[in-house]
Amino acid sequence: MPYGGTADGAGSGAVDSGNSAGRGAADSGTSRGRRSAAGCSASGAASDGAGALFGGAANDAAGVGSTAAAAAPAGAGACPPAVVGSGATGFGAIPRGWRALRDPAINRGLATTVAVRQQYGLEGLLPARVTAPAVEVARAAAAVQRAEVAAAAAAAAVATDGGGGGGGASLLPYCTLMALREADKATFFALVQQDVERYLPLIYTPAVGDACLAWGSLLPRPTGLSISLGDAGRVARLVDNWAAGQPQARIAVLTDGERILGLGDLGAHGLGIPVGKAAVYGAAGVDPDWILPVALDVGCNTESVVNDPLYVGLRRPRERGPAYYHLVDETVTALQSAYGPGLLIHWEDVGAAQAFPLLERLESRGVPTFNDDIQATAAVTLAALLGAERLRGVPPLEHQTFLFFGAGQANLGVAQLLCAELAARGVDPAAASERVWLVDRRGLVTSDRSDLSAAKAKFAKRRPAGLPAGGGSGGDLAGIVAAVRPTALIGAATVGGAFGPRVLAALTQAQPSPSSRPLVFALSNPTSRAECSFQQAVEGTGGRAVFASGTQFPPLRVEGSGGGRPRVPAQANNCLVFPGLGAGCVASGAARVTEGMLLAAARAVAGLTSGEDLEAECVLPRVGRLGECAVEVAAAVARAAAVDMVASSGGGGGAATCVAPLLLASSSSPPSSSSSAAAGALPFGAGVGMAATGVGATGGGRDALEECLRGLQYRPLQ
Ligand code: NAI
Repeated sequence: MPYGGTADGAGSGAVDSGNSAGRGAADSGTSRGRRSAAGCSASGAASDGAGALFGGAANDAAGVGSTAAAAAPAGAGACPPAVVGSGATGFGAIPRGWRALRDPAINRGLATTVAVRQQYGLEGLLPARVTAPAVEVARAAAAVQRAEVAAAAAAAAVATDGGGGGGGASLLPYCTLMALREADKATFFALVQQDVERYLPLIYTPAVGDACLAWGSLLPRPTGLSISLGDAGRVARLVDNWAAGQPQARIAVLTDGERILGLGDLGAHGLGIPVGKAAVYGAAGVDPDWILPVALDVGCNTESVVNDPLYVGLRRPRERGPAYYHLVDETVTALQSAYGPGLLIHWEDVGAAQAFPLLERLESRGVPTFNDDIQATAAVTLAALLGAERLRGVPPLEHQTFLFFGAGQANLGVAQLLCAELAARGVDPAAASERVWLVDRRGLVTSDRSDLSAAKAKFAKRRPAGLPAGGGSGGDLAGIVAAVRPTALIGAATVGGAFGPRVLAALTQAQPSPSSRPLVFALSNPTSRAECSFQQAVEGTGGRAVFASGTQFPPLRVEGSGGGRPRVPAQANNCLVFPGLGAGCVASGAARVTEGMLLAAARAVAGLTSGEDLEAECVLPRVGRLGECAVEVAAAVARAAAVDMVASSGGGGGAATCVAPLLLASSSSPPSSSSSAAAGALPFGAGVGMAATGVGATGGGRDALEECLRGLQYRPLQ
């Protein structure tokens, strides 16, 4: 069931419950608006209810029916009892209480107020006790902890039996959290927002990698919109089916499942990635109802996946011909028709061959789009570089030499944005490219190679003397490091352990002075694909490495350095950028993502790296500050969109559009909340709903835009 999925639209009558999404959508006049306005949707009313619960007197509620009446949702009184016969579906009438029981936007477990219980016929279907939302969050935390303990014990037992243990240990907590998300979305996001650092690894990398590998056997298996080659010609119907339950989407996260983290082609089981990204958007404070996960099933080339009897996708080789692009086009057209042309298409984990062409294809057609792996990764890695150059022993970027191990979406995106940053510092573009070396699976990218794409050819250089040609598997990386003498080694090649002791020793020797600090970034995900661990980087460089990785590694105490304080490795994961990038694009109505917007995103993240972070040698803000990053990045991106003249109303001297409830006002109100308490905290005040507010993007107006977005600061649950 999609979010709030029991809304039958047909039945409940067009009563405005005060739900911002519903009202705003009606204002917007798009087809999205038409759908949203179709009724006092279950999710709308419950969102309000949840908002009041989180923000209000219900926090004190305990005991049967105590203060629940005071905590009745703002819209509850206005919204008539849901009409619940579902004649339209042909399944006969489902009693309204039963429907509400299964609607995570209405049923908040024991935190469901008496008013909501009465309104939806839930009395007797829930235990009589009414709790505060915080109790439900604590209950969820206990359940996750129990799942972790059980999973760790099971993994240890398997390891003792010689089975290796490992990966599966994250599945039980992952499934527990996904079950919570299905059953009680508000508690799920409140829990995650309460301690992002703790829960992110359980809903995102590395757990999401294990989840995709085991997708066919997961229960529950999280849902998203699934479209396969067999649906060609009728995709609009599928999209409409989904949109009936989630009419408010503003960002569609699409994957074709071909390059799932560093795990390869997982076909339809790649849906776990958009689902995980949607969870991260929510954790960062972007309304999760605005995010639509989509899997395009175009076949799969991994035999073990398609031969698995529990595989959920098409058992056929991956389509690479025109049918692939037709399906993409039909899907994007259908999504735009359902949600409006402003729907942002966020690409995720598509194969290297399709990534750049898909981006260009959509951009050339004026579809707002970005590729997370290319563009958001570029911004977060540049932010890490900007943080690193603030450390003693690290030269300014314009004096460094960069060796990129892996020349795919991630590293090419970083290399390009890095050059843009150097150009912005006055470095000649040709000289900037000279500082960047690439290695792909055929070895060093040199001008004597005839197999280079245009994007790689831009960085091809004369082969260093004495270095033999490629030889496959990236060639001899230690030899390449010795020849190129980089100050920064950045890995995104999906080759776990590629930065071994020889490579790190060569890197250390290549540094200009004994006090120089080489940068070692192991960006590949999940942990098993990281080029090296934090500990390996530190040990392999005699403690000199400045480290960042795609998946978090634990802090280390390094003897003789940091005055005994632990050194904290930075997590250079695009999660610090994509929620704000997506939010900023939607807020500004950006027609496309420009280099200027990515540079702005990188600088916004770098600006949040504190002196305290740097003292611990952490060159990025901690992921626990995901919400702050989202707000800062969104503000910077929206402003840059206006400056680059791609904001909806022309940018520059025109107006950028700021949509108030784009980001959650605070985690003390749940996702989708439009309660008066939550709305009061919004810069545009209560009841603004989704109405777009024009804010001048230049001069004082620019400040207003910034203030608007900053006003949506993430605040952890008290
Ligand atoms: P991709 O498939 O587009 O590129 C992989 C690149 O690695 C290709 O250039 C390929 O030739 C090269 N490669 C493969 N085997 C090699 C070898 N043995 N020696 C040298 N080069 C080799 O993949 P993409 O999107 O660039 O992702 C790569 C990795 O980066 C993945 O593990 C992914 O999870 C990770 N990543 C991390 C992000 C983060 O936020 N930290 C974001 C995006 C990707």
